Amino acid sequence: MTNLRFQYKHLSGFLSEEEIQLMQEEIDVSHSLLVEKAGKGNEFLGWIDLPARIDEALIESIEETAKAIREKAEILVVTGIGGSYLGSRAIIEALSSPFSAFDTDRKNPKVIYAGHNISQDYHAELIRLLDKREYAIALISKSGTTTEPAIAFRLLKQHIELKYGPVEAASRIIAITDSSKGALKNLAEKQGYKTFNIPENIGGRYSVLTPVGLFPVAFAGFDIRQLIKGANEMRKVCTETSSLLDNPAACYAAIRSSLYRMGYQIEMLVNYEPQLHYFTEWWKQLFGESEGKENEGLFPTGVDFTTDLHSMGQYIQEGQRMLFETVIHVLKPKHSLLIPHTEDDLDGMNFIAGKTLHEVNDMAAMGTTLAHIDGEVPNLDILLPAIDEYSLGELIYFFEFACGLSAYLLGINPFNQPGVEVYKNNMFALLGKPGYENETEVIRERINET
Ligand code: PA5
Repeated sequence: MTNLRFQYKHLSGFLSEEEIQLMQEEIDVSHSLLVEKAGKGNEFLGWIDLPARIDEALIESIEETAKAIREKAEILVVTGIGGSYLGSRAIIEALSSPFSAFDTDRKNPKVIYAGHNISQDYHAELIRLLDKREYAIALISKSGTTTEPAIAFRLLKQHIELKYGPVEAASRIIAITDSSKGALKNLAEKQGYKTFNIPENIGGRYSVLTPVGLFPVAFAGFDIRQLIKGANEMRKVCTETSSLLDNPAACYAAIRSSLYRMGYQIEMLVNYEPQLHYFTEWWKQLFGESEGKENEGLFPTGVDFTTDLHSMGQYIQEGQRMLFETVIHVLKPKHSLLIPHTEDDLDGMNFIAGKTLHEVNDMAAMGTTLAHIDGEVPNLDILLPAIDEYSLGELIYFFEFACGLSAYLLGINPFNQPGVEVYKNNMFALLGKPGYENETEVIRERINET
């Protein structure tokens, strides 16, 4: 039994129950391609059974290493990009106080990020901070050759070795990389870094439940066992049946694919809890990199409500009719907070005095859904019991499975990202990387022309 619920009760007028059920046959085919590992990119389907077969020894080793590093470091610098950092950031930010940066208690260590951009100012400010703080580094790269984290790690390695000396520095660096090959594997072995493996058959954006996500989450003090448990419950439901009535990920995939075929081009993930902002970033990468190829795919984007109702709300209500919303509702907040009554009622808000903020947030969500449906924006709902490790585990697996199914419905390989190479090739040619000599002049000329 999973606690997460997927609902489509706001779809009437857009898509009928009969039209949804018509997708069953196609879903059956995609489902068996996934669970029987017979579809495109099947060499990267290791994530399917992952939550059921994570080794106890690996969990213990992650927890022990995280504890040991926490004893000497108040900050962990997660150095990685794309699937090598978005999953851990999504979970850590969802579970942390929005104001954790101001919590100076050493018992609550901080995770910060590097190597997910090439901004000089970002990395210079980071180094300035690290001058004054005790820290460790988790260098995360499956290939070990990705430009952004490689540059950041050059800077960080230089800094940490100067700060602590090479031996202590090496004990503060954790390398998380491919199990058998790659430049980072060789570097880690040479330098004697503690290493965790990323299974060969799991790609970056599906790797959050490998040490890629688990180690930073454990360092931040969260319960990785509950995360895995939640994901495993969802795995059972998703893999057991392809029935649209019983498999929420199959139902979600069927509906979003039907909407796409009807001409909707954009899926907007909506939350009413700002700590889910980075969850949306993870989701955007998962769907964007998996489905967006061969001139196909829904464009995944996201908004934080009610904040963005005052920026994007106008467009959603009355702009081009090409988007639908998938709304995450968190049923139980961690805290309770009542709206105070005031004598003068100058702001006219006494009518909600005594209600919790959560009740008002819920009414805002209901009102928004109705308004957007009236504005011809289909709405899908995900009911998340709470923002805790277990529920996030469920949600992660739900989206991973739905993403695999959706891409197979499009006939697309969800597990590669050939398009990402194009900017890299141009950048390498401009930077004069050996092997790119022939392209350098061509690219420079094209830039001058444009
Ligand atoms: O999902 C993916 O495969 C990518 O987003 C990668 O995670 C990203 O490009 C980083 O790659 P690497 O881990 O090899 O540094």
